[in-house]
Amino acid sequence: MCGIIGYNGVKNAIPIVINGLKNLEYRGYDSSGIAYFLQDKVKIIKEKGRIKDLESILDSSKPTLCIGHTRWATHGKPSRENSHPHQVGMITIVHNGIIENYASLKEKLKDEGYLFQSETDTEVACALIDSLYKKNKNKLEVFEDVKKILKGSYAFLILFADEKDTIYAIREGSPLIVATSSIGNFVASDIPAILEYTKNYYLLLEGEIAVIKQDSVHFFQDKKEIQKELLTFQFDLASAKKDGYSHFMLKEIHEQPTVIQNFLEYYLDNLELIPDISLYEKIHIVACGSAYHAGLIGSFLIEKYGDIEVEVFIASEYRYKKNFLNENTLVIFISQSGETADTIACLRLAKSYQAKTLGIVNVVGSTIAREADQVIYINAGCEIAVATTKAYTLQVLTTSLLAYKLGLKTGLIQDSEKILSDLKKLPDEIQKILSIDYEKLAKKIYKKHDIFFIGRLLDYYLSEEGSLKLKEISYLHSETYPAGELKHGTISLIEDKTPVIAVLTDESIYEKTISNIKEVKARGAYTIGIKRESLEVEENIFDDVIEIANLNDLAISPLAIVPLQMLAYTVANLLGYDIDKPRNLAKSVTVE
Ligand code: F6R
Repeated sequence: MCGIIGYNGVKNAIPIVINGLKNLEYRGYDSSGIAYFLQDKVKIIKEKGRIKDLESILDSSKPTLCIGHTRWATHGKPSRENSHPHQVGMITIVHNGIIENYASLKEKLKDEGYLFQSETDTEVACALIDSLYKKNKNKLEVFEDVKKILKGSYAFLILFADEKDTIYAIREGSPLIVATSSIGNFVASDIPAILEYTKNYYLLLEGEIAVIKQDSVHFFQDKKEIQKELLTFQFDLASAKKDGYSHFMLKEIHEQPTVIQNFLEYYLDNLELIPDISLYEKIHIVACGSAYHAGLIGSFLIEKYGDIEVEVFIASEYRYKKNFLNENTLVIFISQSGETADTIACLRLAKSYQAKTLGIVNVVGSTIAREADQVIYINAGCEIAVATTKAYTLQVLTTSLLAYKLGLKTGLIQDSEKILSDLKKLPDEIQKILSIDYEKLAKKIYKKHDIFFIGRLLDYYLSEEGSLKLKEISYLHSETYPAGELKHGTISLIEDKTPVIAVLTDESIYEKTISNIKEVKARGAYTIGIKRESLEVEENIFDDVIEIANLNDLAISPLAIVPLQMLAYTVANLLGYDIDKPRNLAKSVTVE
């Protein structure tokens, strides 16, 4: 979390850094700040709140070198004191990540005479660098010491008061790119920060140091200069702009037909790019949040068509439990960003047990993409809204293709033509579902306090995702239950007009869910169905129903999730919330 950017070039650096911060705001947005050289001193301007609050206190300076930060608070509440940049002695820094051993370091640094203004771990790292630099003026040696002393994850941009023309960057565990352009050089947490100026960038790898001057960039590892490959970002600026939509989330929901079409054209023509995973004794899928929900669908499909045991785990749990891994286990890691701290930790854990690893990732060159034995890129393009939509859909579709390929081998898929034809119908069917008027339905639930989602198997996994979407952007409390489980306790919460949203796509089990819908309806629930059109239900089962096309289970989930995404969006919009930047959240969860 947190977004950082530095610019060293020929133009006024402040608007460039502010603009970059706005494009990184999805990473954190509770306070922000910048630092630049003014005469012989480093000047810091920072403020609690959004970047617009920072803009309102900027002065008319026009430096050509500047660093900036947009924060997602970890250590210490959002406040001016806790905002970055932090400055101690000769050093000014911005930081993304968490320093785990900051408390003990702080005590040692206090003994050296350092005083601290903030509650942050970053200020401690800043004091540490200052302390080391006082003793040794060789900056590369100082950075090597910093790497040895600090525990945790960090990407730092560092200004030294005695070197006015340089930005230093170090990375360990948190992402950084370094970009070059005709107007100067950049360093940033992610590509959207710099996309208006250049598509050429270097990926800073673990432990590497970048020295960014106005007209050159140099890279070091273990104090030795290294050469790095200049990469080109494939997507254009339009993918990082709203394009007339009121929110990125709405734009990204509407991009789904196109990204799915591109995905299917690419992977169905190159099915060899989808690995054959039939040889493993068991498969684990590990992920967080929506990616975990995609994994649940994947596990169902892989077990059904591949006839292999699959278990799905939340990464923050998996990393601390016994997992019985060996070289015959495949562990699949699903991650949009490829930088989720818990998922990365599990990947490294799995590798330490010689398990084979496969990443399903969106961000090209991200840590999971680089470190997994194999990677399938979902190619969703930039996803800016904090609540994932198009990346989730493509994660689900990727697991469908893994299952499809397995099913051809096991013989559990016999009518492959029908499956392919259903998959190819997805873009058009999603387009139809997008044109429904969701406001009418949203108005019936947006003032409610508790909303329930139910379904069985695939429909339960889809419900989990629908409920998460609603919670994270509309702040309405909602719960998801396997439909058969309600009567074991939760049904006591159903009151007159409590909304219950049921997902029914699975022909083999939907009648069981219908019985559960009758149970809640008998207790006064207001029922909404997301239903496959061919499934027959009695007329009065649903108060409202959205019907979706009759597709095979390898194809239907990316369609069935769309009404739930749109419903969540429309409810949040009616409530007037900041949909792309929901409170307390950040897009890329790079801390544990
Ligand atoms: C919810 C959402 C999160 C992410 C989760 C994992 O809308 O976006 O739940 O799915 O934080 O992130 P990645 O996929 O980047 O590992």
